[in-house]
Amino acid sequence: MTKKIAVLPGDGIGSEIIEQAVRVLKALDIPLEIEHAPVGGTAYDLHGHPLPPSTLKLAQESHAVLFGAVGDWKYDKLPREHRPEQAILGLRKSLGLFANLRPAILYPELANASSLKPEIVSGLDILILRELTGDIYFGTPRGIRTATDGPFAGSKEGFDTMRYAEPEIRRIAHLGFQAAQKRSRKLCSVDKANVLETSQLWRDTVIEVAKEYPDVALTHMYVDNAAMQLVRAPRDFDVIVTGNLFGDILSDEAAMLTGSIGMLPSASMNASGQGLYEPSHGSAPDIAGKGVANPLATILSAAMLLRYSLDHDAQAKRIEQAVQRVLQQGFRTADIYEAGMTKVGTAAMGDAVLKA
Ligand code: NAI
Ligand code: MG
Repeated sequence: MTKKIAVLPGDGIGSEIIEQAVRVLKALDIPLEIEHAPVGGTAYDLHGHPLPPSTLKLAQESHAVLFGAVGDWKYDKLPREHRPEQAILGLRKSLGLFANLRPAILYPELANASSLKPEIVSGLDILILRELTGDIYFGTPRGIRTATDGPFAGSKEGFDTMRYAEPEIRRIAHLGFQAAQKRSRKLCSVDKANVLETSQLWRDTVIEVAKEYPDVALTHMYVDNAAMQLVRAPRDFDVIVTGNLFGDILSDEAAMLTGSIGMLPSASMNASGQGLYEPSHGSAPDIAGKGVANPLATILSAAMLLRYSLDHDAQAKRIEQAVQRVLQQGFRTADIYEAGMTKVGTAAMGDAVLKA
């Protein structure tokens, strides 16, 4: 069956990097129906909305969405509902995307890009699974009110509600174990169960789900310790599963371990395997239109799309190996350039991956 892919380039470098990923997808011998639609500021300029109904409909009808990036300083003064980033929130919500997969890989060829010593990070390959729909970001009640008790009674106070429903923890835990089964069968669940009720339920639920995956070694870690271990011995981790708040912070920390934002793909998935695939970086307005952006994060996102939404693991590996090969061959975009390497632009990097 032909699988349908919605391609949403977005703003800034979005269209430049997406073009290279689409070339790579088209070069594979898999029947794909690829359809483009505007999103973000580009869509706002055309249709008066960052996520026009026609774009949303296309995304809903597709097996997967390949997304570039959205955002530009010129939209900063728009009311919140018209800002480009609202498109991502809208897509997450309407597609029911509850799991965010962020690999952090440091290719040995790029070990110098990290701010950590090569002997600590070279060859790093971890996957962080962040829950996306629950936790303190969405819990109610929330707001700003006047404190009625305690030492600050009478003052303004801000408050939020951290909450997780058991089924919500259960479904992300299952994905964590399944991801670990595809890798080195090690799963680390990160929480703050010594202090938070939410985390206590999180830990109990993950332990319960673990019974269905006796082949995976489960460990637990408090989030503060996890933040330390990620910079002390990051290669000790394989798959990390955690909630929305802790995952937000730890996945950005892990991204910085690699030092190359232009190399990191990401995926957000729902229960039926539909997913949104995008580079971890933004729209890089500072280099947009110059043909110098690194397309590899987007090309690697296309590989994740094949693996997680289309079940074409072998084709995904082909892409990942091609990326590794172009790095071995010395091709570098400006963001990862080092003396002695071959500096290439966006399209030439796409050419190199296609050839490899
Ligand atoms: P950014 O990731 O766009 O850029 C940060 C720095 O990394 C810039 O110096 C940029 O040139 C560089 N960079 C990023 N991607 C690159 C690539 N592929 N190749 C070479 N260099 C690259 O983050 P920033 O500057 O904070 O945000 C810019 C815009 O992007 C904002 O409007 C922001 O809201 C938006 N954004 C969108 C995201 C998304 O669409 N998911 C995620 C993060 C930011
Ligand atoms: Mg973040």
